[in-house]
Amino acid sequence: MVEVPVNIIENFSLQAYNSLALPAVARYFITINAMDELVELSRHYRLNTLPWLVLGSGSNVVFSKDYNGVIIHLELNNIYYRVDDEAVYIHAEAGVIWDKLVQETLIKGYPGLENLSLIPGTVGAAPVQNIGAYGIELKDYFSSLLAWDRELQRFCHLDANDCCFSYRHSIFKEEPGRYIILKVVLKLPCAWRPQLQYQALNSAMIDQPLSADRIRNVVCELRRSKLPDPELLPNAGSFFKNPCINQALFSELKSLYSDLPSFAAGVADQVKVPAAWLIEQAGWRGKALGAVGMYEKQALVLVNHGGASGDEVLELAQCVQSDVWEKFGVQLEVEPQIFGALTEN
Ligand code: EPU
Repeated sequence: MVEVPVNIIENFSLQAYNSLALPAVARYFITINAMDELVELSRHYRLNTLPWLVLGSGSNVVFSKDYNGVIIHLELNNIYYRVDDEAVYIHAEAGVIWDKLVQETLIKGYPGLENLSLIPGTVGAAPVQNIGAYGIELKDYFSSLLAWDRELQRFCHLDANDCCFSYRHSIFKEEPGRYIILKVVLKLPCAWRPQLQYQALNSAMIDQPLSADRIRNVVCELRRSKLPDPELLPNAGSFFKNPCINQALFSELKSLYSDLPSFAAGVADQVKVPAAWLIEQAGWRGKALGAVGMYEKQALVLVNHGGASGDEVLELAQCVQSDVWEKFGVQLEVEPQIFGALTEN
């Protein structure tokens, strides 16, 4: 008989393990210190038949009820580098804090990730929603990843095609619970090209010396000026995706609201509009509903003012969605992964 892992805790509070600070209890909480321990865990019949969820910083999840499964916390924190004539390949284990990785690569003289500075969360969580900011996404520098495939009960390597990356989306959202991401390999070309196409970044860099370190500093300043620190005001970053709408609807809205901002969607006949703008116009910026609200400095960020439940978060999300729908005919899609009422993961 396979023994129960020693590092397992029953009825574990997840409040400190999700950046919205929602109260939820996990049936089991297990810390994994080496990849082989996952193989061991998979041999344990009872634990292997329950749902599993990896929680790093919990910066992109909403728990609306207790988690009746196994929460896995990965203490895998190594980073290795391999350099050839063309690029540097960064092998970062899943438990590494994303921003520590960005910082370390810059200190070592490998620029490329600076636009993704200060994004909360771990390396293992980065591919799940294909993190993105200031004009780039993880997929732009992604090479491959190593995961434990729970369906096939084996380790597997997935490349960018396998991961099906798109805007804040990937196969890991399509098939939640199947893959446990263990290591991510990023490829940074040796020839650095600064990415300054995002308007706010471009404007802030005018008259600044052009270097990756400087871009990182500016990105950090921009983020700190509008995104709340989850330690001080619990939140999960952008709560909705920026919606893509068709050209006909965009033209109709633009004739009514001439200041409606827009971005290229990269898809024919589609235009991307900022959810923050729609939410603000619908009257939700800085407005609270019980213990939760939409942040006053960035209307796209749902914040917990203290003591909120997961249900209150979902109720506010639904109110915002329905007001935006009524005013603009645009459906907002929730960005974080929801565990509870809407899904049974
Ligand atoms: N705006 C408003 N009201 C607000 C905030 C913004 O009207 O309260 C309008 C402004 O017109 C502004 C536009 O919305 O020009 C865009 O705002 P911002 O530059 O802050 O970016 P965003 O589209 O709201 C996205 C990402 C962020 C990322 C920033 C910068 C999504 C869902 N969010 O936000 O990502 O940091 O761009 O690249 O794509 C995250 O995913 O958690 C996240 C924070």
